[in-house]
Amino acid sequence: MLRVRVPLTGGSVDRSYDVVVGYGAINQLESLVPDGTKRIAVVTQEGIPSGWALPTFDVETYFIGRGESSKSLATIETLTRGFAEQGITRHDLIVGVGGGMVTDVAGFAAASWHRGTPVVHVATTMLGMVDAAIGGKTGVNLPEGKNLVGAYWQPSGVVCDLSALSTLPPRETRCGLGEMAKYNFLTGDDLLSMDLEQRIARCIEIKVEIVAADEREGGRRALLNYGHTLAHALEIASGYQLAHGEAVAIGLIYAAELAFELGRVEQARVDEHRRVVGEEYGLMATPPAGVDIDELVRLMRRDKKALNGLTFALDGPDGVEVVNDVDEVAVRTALARFVQ
Ligand SMILES: NC(=O)c1ccc[n+]([C@@H]2O[C@H](COP(=O)([O-])OP(=O)(O)OC[C@H]3O[C@@H](n4cnc5c(N)ncnc54)[C@H](O)[C@@H]3O)[C@@H](O)[C@H]2O)c1
Ligand SMILES: [Zn+2]
Repeated sequence: MLRVRVPLTGGSVDRSYDVVVGYGAINQLESLVPDGTKRIAVVTQEGIPSGWALPTFDVETYFIGRGESSKSLATIETLTRGFAEQGITRHDLIVGVGGGMVTDVAGFAAASWHRGTPVVHVATTMLGMVDAAIGGKTGVNLPEGKNLVGAYWQPSGVVCDLSALSTLPPRETRCGLGEMAKYNFLTGDDLLSMDLEQRIARCIEIKVEIVAADEREGGRRALLNYGHTLAHALEIASGYQLAHGEAVAIGLIYAAELAFELGRVEQARVDEHRRVVGEEYGLMATPPAGVDIDELVRLMRRDKKALNGLTFALDGPDGVEVVNDVDEVAVRTALARFVQ
């Protein structure tokens, strides 16, 4: 079992917390419950591994719907009305048990309930463990767009019990691996030499280090969007047939191709991206046939991170960094090499 300490000492109060990673980590959940908690509201979904208990607390379980359409203000209203009935106060605890969708919803419910009630995340997907449950971003969707309503709200602790991953559908595993592959390029760490427990713990540390460098989106946090500029465009262009993590895998290779096109990296680094994504993680490394380059370029220009023209996180002599105003000709040339 590994414990990653997330240091959050920036404000007037020390909000540092622990992430427990390992098989059976759920047994450490009680150690993350803040002192003084009496009632616990567990937010989860049908089909997510349960079978653990917190017998010394007044626990109610709230099941929310699956899929992005349930990541909504309507769900927040239903949940918080439940909290009212249960008598949850801001000295109690919300526990989100699930993938990123659940922890985003539970986190936002906690951020708004009595203007801020502690939350502990129990991440049960690989993406949740290495990404969504860490970093304090919470929120819900509107019909107008994803994650438009939200808040920064740091958890009091996070559990990543690797046993939960055994029931994860293969596609969800692939999505988590796409996001995990990204971390292989953000530092010099040899993540592939580590076992799964160490690797997940290290991915969490890397995310935490980057997020700590600027807690609100700004400079370094954008590095976590490595591979994401093309990924977002591919998700939309495929009518969401490609899931986020699958699109990220392709986006990582494209980012390397584009960095090569711009003279920022050697061919060997592109080959390394292909090997890590395609062979080590076994992910699809080329876009689906028939995607249209003009449409991808148009979508990438509209990306919410693209304040200055075409913006990418790109590898280079100093590692991955954010590059604004990338030359459209290079973007198209790298795409043309890549798209069939
Ligand atoms: N807050 C952040 O920083 C952040 C970062 C990345 C993604 N996200 C959000 O995370 C969400 C995606 O998260 P996700 O990929 O974990 O998907 P998800 O939460 O939608 O879960 C995918 C499916 O797997 C099921 N599931 C979860 N754990 C399971 C388990 N152990 N066994 C069997 N089934 C299980 C869920 O019920 C769901 O049907 C998106 O809403 C995205 O916006 C947030
Ligand atoms: Zn992502």
